[in-house]
Amino acid sequence: MARFSSLFFGLLVTVLVNAAPAPELTAASAASLSPSNLLGEIIDALGVGLVTQINTTITLDSLTTNLVSVDVELQNPLPFELTLDTVASTAGINGTVFASFNHTFSTGIVVPPFGKAKTGVIDNVLLTQGAIASLAIIPLGFLDLLEIDTNIRALTIDGFLGIPLTISDLHQTNVSTLYTLDLS
Ligand SMILES: *[C@@H]1O[C@H](CO)[C@@H](O)[C@H](O)[C@H]1NC(C)=O
Ligand SMILES: *[C@@H]1O[C@H](CO)[C@@H](O)[C@H](O)[C@H]1NC(C)=O
Ligand SMILES: *[C@@H]1O[C@H](CO)[C@@H](O)[C@H](O)[C@H]1NC(C)=O
Ligand SMILES: *[C@@H]1O[C@H](CO)[C@@H](O)[C@H](O)[C@H]1NC(C)=O
Repeated sequence: MARFSSLFFGLLVTVLVNAAPAPELTAASAASLSPSNLLGEIIDALGVGLVTQINTTITLDSLTTNLVSVDVELQNPLPFELTLDTVASTAGINGTVFASFNHTFSTGIVVPPFGKAKTGVIDNVLLTQGAIASLAIIPLGFLDLLEIDTNIRALTIDGFLGIPLTISDLHQTNVSTLYTLDLS
């Protein structure tokens, strides 16, 4: 009986989802989607913007290492929890890459439904044009994210479980960026 009713419920959910002209992506409907459909829905939703703020810290060492650190604020436009495990991105201005990084989070970054979260400090962001050339973009106060690749898990519960998805080649323009010179 239990098996029968869960089968029936599954069919009912499928019928309801298919019948709706423009189904909202709720946690329940997302759970019933195949990973590839879910991926498409998430990419569409993230089209409005995954990153809301970038804070960049430049040190004196940056002038010789060409490395800076960033702290990034993320938003989740979806009605279910997302957890980011890795992120790689290039950032720049007018199509010219100025910064590039790859990062694996030791603990996934949990972004609550319709909520925001900070990544914490990500070190070793490479200034691909060199630190000196990069000083010119500081007054602009924004960056374009030219390519974001991320491994996320959808429908996590406090950062656990979830459906793993690889999202490639997201773009975002005009992300507000603060620069702090840390001379300590
Ligand atoms: C960036 O810095 C501003 C000002 O100090 C702060 O309010 C904000 O929370 C910071 N954001 C991140 C992602 O660290
Ligand atoms: C991330 O690392 C991979 C493999 O090392 C490399 O191919 C890729 O270009 C890197 N991405 C960024 C944005 O640095
Ligand atoms: C970006 O390109 C536009 C059009 O080519 C130009 O007007 C603008 O000054 C450029 N901005 C920067 C920061 O290079
Ligand atoms: C970038 O965003 C700022 C607000 O954060 C806005 O004032 C500006 O017009 C935007 N520029 C473009 C090119 O969208």
